[in-house]
Amino acid sequence: MIRFTRRLLLALAAGTALVAPPAKAQPSFPNRTLTVIVPFAAGGPTDTVSRLVAEAMGRDLGQTMVVENVGGAGGTLGAQRVANARPDGHTVLLHHIGMATTPTLYRRLAYDPVAGYEPIGLVTDVPMTLIARHNFPATTLAEAVAIIQRDTDKLNYANAGIGAASHLCGLLLMSAVNAPMTTVPFRGTGPAMQELLAGRIDLMCDQTTNTTEQILGNQVKAYAVTTPARIGALPNLPTSAEGGLPAFEVSVWHGLYAPRGTPAEIVNRLSHALQVALRDPRLVARFRELGTEPVAQDRATPAAHRAFWQADIAKWRPIIQAAGQFAD
Ligand code: MLT
Repeated sequence: MIRFTRRLLLALAAGTALVAPPAKAQPSFPNRTLTVIVPFAAGGPTDTVSRLVAEAMGRDLGQTMVVENVGGAGGTLGAQRVANARPDGHTVLLHHIGMATTPTLYRRLAYDPVAGYEPIGLVTDVPMTLIARHNFPATTLAEAVAIIQRDTDKLNYANAGIGAASHLCGLLLMSAVNAPMTTVPFRGTGPAMQELLAGRIDLMCDQTTNTTEQILGNQVKAYAVTTPARIGALPNLPTSAEGGLPAFEVSVWHGLYAPRGTPAEIVNRLSHALQVALRDPRLVARFRELGTEPVAQDRATPAAHRAFWQADIAKWRPIIQAAGQFAD
């Protein structure tokens, strides 16, 4: 007679195997709060995108994802923080087109602006808008250009430092109209916007994620959106081509990066969480309110991000070298 132990009977009754169920695999990643380093001040466009992405990614990862603003030097201080971070996936960088211009603009960095990272995936392409203080005496882009050309040495233009999207957009504008205005650098266009709203800054080119609400609220003058076609969030804002400056076109791509040496399975897990975040209805709705869209899912992968990033570095290198303007 087979002596059925109590455990055997219970197991048979429960239809479970005798062997202990596999211990619940402790998720090796993530195992604590994650940090997204934003290389510009709080309240600006990069910060806005990052907070929306961090909240949605955190839901998929099952851990809080906090945003830490590390502004300064056109975004390179924040980028360096991540290049030097432990490659365990808990510290990532959300940055933009500056990752393509920095390798040429900055020649003496204390970190490698390319090899220092593992791309995780692209996030969004954000249009830019040319705006001015609310009492700037121009209604159209053509009128604004005429004033910029007449009063070049009296006007100031805000940006977030050399290599920032606001800096690159300003370069395009000033070269298109041949009017090198005085530029005033900030740790981000969040603080710059406050100075423009106060009337102490005359003009700025900034992303719709930081200007849409001010434009719709008539708090600033707006002259152009730097995309080939008008955007749904600002249907009454002409494109730069409609305003007579077809060369004044630029959009700001954003990507997510881990430090070099982050294991591939962790990079892939982060990319999966990013792709889930970019499908989140709340994030998509807020992006659209702010004039942008998440990238297509197949662009939010490490391979697609790496290919795009390398191509954009190669695109901007001769442009910057020809301009001969470097940060150091
Ligand atoms: C820039 O490149 O101008 C930055 O996006 C500004 C910011 O995010 O504060």
